[in-house]
Amino acid sequence: MPIIPTGVRGARIIGWGSALGNKVVTNDDLALTMETNDEWIRERTGIHRRSIGGTTAELSISSGGAALTMAGVDPSTIDALILATTTPDRSVPASSAKVQDALGLRCGAFDLNAACSGFVYALVTAHGLIAMGAQRVLVIGTDTLSRIVDWTDRNTAILFADGSGAMVLEATSGLGQLMSWDLDADGSLEELLYCEIGSTVQMNGKEVFRRAVRIMVDSAAKTMQQAGVTADQIALIVPHQANTRIITAACERLGVPMEKTALTIEFTGNTSSASIPLALFHAADGGRLKQNDLVLLVGFGAGMTAASALLRWGAQ
Ligand code: UT7
Repeated sequence: MPIIPTGVRGARIIGWGSALGNKVVTNDDLALTMETNDEWIRERTGIHRRSIGGTTAELSISSGGAALTMAGVDPSTIDALILATTTPDRSVPASSAKVQDALGLRCGAFDLNAACSGFVYALVTAHGLIAMGAQRVLVIGTDTLSRIVDWTDRNTAILFADGSGAMVLEATSGLGQLMSWDLDADGSLEELLYCEIGSTVQMNGKEVFRRAVRIMVDSAAKTMQQAGVTADQIALIVPHQANTRIITAACERLGVPMEKTALTIEFTGNTSSASIPLALFHAADGGRLKQNDLVLLVGFGAGMTAASALLRWGAQ
């Protein structure tokens, strides 16, 4: 389990932004084209509606631009752009290239694919860059899953949607906000959830569900243990928004009550790399976070990957 070395240069979040696809699709809309219904989707997933539309670059430019505006920084002062996505617009080049140009950045830019764990992977990677001298890093998590979903497959079409969340991280003189982290992957589970290039998502939903709870709990427990923090000290847990039943089971096992959980799945659906930042910034915009609150991010996804990070909100 990696330990953050004492004296390392930390970072804090100085701005954030979100974007959703421009078309709202309700469960009733889906019931028009496949054998499903609103009641089943609400009860089995927690999803009421979702937004789709736009490309990965378009949504990233929107959320990234909002994050830069909130941070009030000149785009030319950003030292790196990391775009977490599992749905790039092209195989080559990385979608971050278009985003970098549109936002007026002049810095290294790359995509990172860790499926639904991608944003936490990118957050940890950005801290590595900052420890090595970068002053500011723009981290974006975006997915446009509507483009790789088979809209006749009720197993996947009811779950996945489009969205983007972005943040500007700035170096601090102190320890910063990241207290501990865990990144994990088990490639032997690749067949549970995959998409061949040019094809549509294939998923063994039951198996993903069964394993998701355990790997989220394992990753979150490691991260809390690393920081010497117990569940009762967590002010807000921000889980990957995949299924309310997965979130409820994981939070129960971790000992974090549901009122301390960030939930956006009802209106976002599963937006993969965008899921955790959308839920985190929705909570922050809603006034749910105060200075020094402990915030636990925890995700899982195709791979299967898992990732968690403990933040001290607003810490310098
Ligand atoms: O980012 C990670 C992404 N993936 C996930 O997190 C997926 C995790 N898995 C899940 O969320 C759930 O397994 C699903 C939502 C995909 C499915 O829910 P489930 O409770 O596992 O349903 P099931 O596959 O066990 O099906 C139960 C019943 C079946 O009918 P019978 O055999 O009991 O008569 C299905 O045919 O529900 C039926 N069913 C549906 N009915 C209406 C399955 N899908 C649907 C549907 N609408 N969309």
